[in-house]
Amino acid sequence: MKVTVPYCIEAKKNEKKLTMLTAYDYPMARLLDEAGVDILLVGDSLGMVIQGKSDPLSVSVDEMVYHTRLVSRGTKRALVVGDMPFMSFQVSIQDAVVNAGRLIKEGRANAVKLEGGREISKQVKGIVNAGIPVMGHLGLTPQSLNQFGGFVVQAKSEFAIKNLIADAISLERDGAFAIVLEGMPEEAARRVTERINIPTIGIGAGKYVDGQVLVTYDMLGFSDWAPKFVKKYADFKSVIQGAVQQYIDEVQNTVFPTDEYTYQVKIDRREDPDVVEKTTEFKRTDIDDFDDLF
Ligand code: KIV
Repeated sequence: MKVTVPYCIEAKKNEKKLTMLTAYDYPMARLLDEAGVDILLVGDSLGMVIQGKSDPLSVSVDEMVYHTRLVSRGTKRALVVGDMPFMSFQVSIQDAVVNAGRLIKEGRANAVKLEGGREISKQVKGIVNAGIPVMGHLGLTPQSLNQFGGFVVQAKSEFAIKNLIADAISLERDGAFAIVLEGMPEEAARRVTERINIPTIGIGAGKYVDGQVLVTYDMLGFSDWAPKFVKKYADFKSVIQGAVQQYIDEVQNTVFPTDEYTYQVKIDRREDPDVVEKTTEFKRTDIDDFDDLF
């Protein structure tokens, strides 16, 4: 059964935790979807994770549309959420609706995600009014990293927690169906989660939330370093490098390929120039160049 927006809201009522992971391409989307994850987020974290940049700020709408399309193509059950990149929604309601529409129409996403709270209220309402489900994103919102002075934990004071709660309530009123809470103390995330009826999905926000999200490449152990809140569920760096080193070794020592990986075809030894001319695009003159072969 396909995961839908009502399913996510029902999950909170039934105290069923939602699972979300990032995906940026078809093969990973297929693997995660078949494993049963509820939501696939095509995050603008792709700027760092697969484009090798130091932040997500230069990721474009075209790039998000492209990657969202790849993920949608590999997904049957999970809800696909396309991230709205920096400056694709901040300037105007029209920008926000047009770019959200592209993620749905061209990327085939089921919903979009936007960073921000009360300051983007009009944009959220505009997108929701266009029939597009919105996931909010509060706390350590990476698109504001220049304002924060880096990837710094947020909501560390009573004042900041009250602002966070006000932003969450505003998103809920504007029609958002879920909110990502990133990089904050457990208490802050718990208090937000208790105040709203839509699910919260935490990343580096502790356990008192309605679901969890991680960057897939981090939790699968593709690199040596990962943030404190990432549990490595696998060590893909070792698995991939071990396999590649074995491949290099076997090729260099002619261990690979064995007969098992080789086409065992009986060669037709008849001298028949017609066959050669019919089955190749060579002309007679080309063949003459290789006289020593014939
Ligand atoms: O871009 C992203 O991957 C995200 C998640 C980390 C929540 O926003």
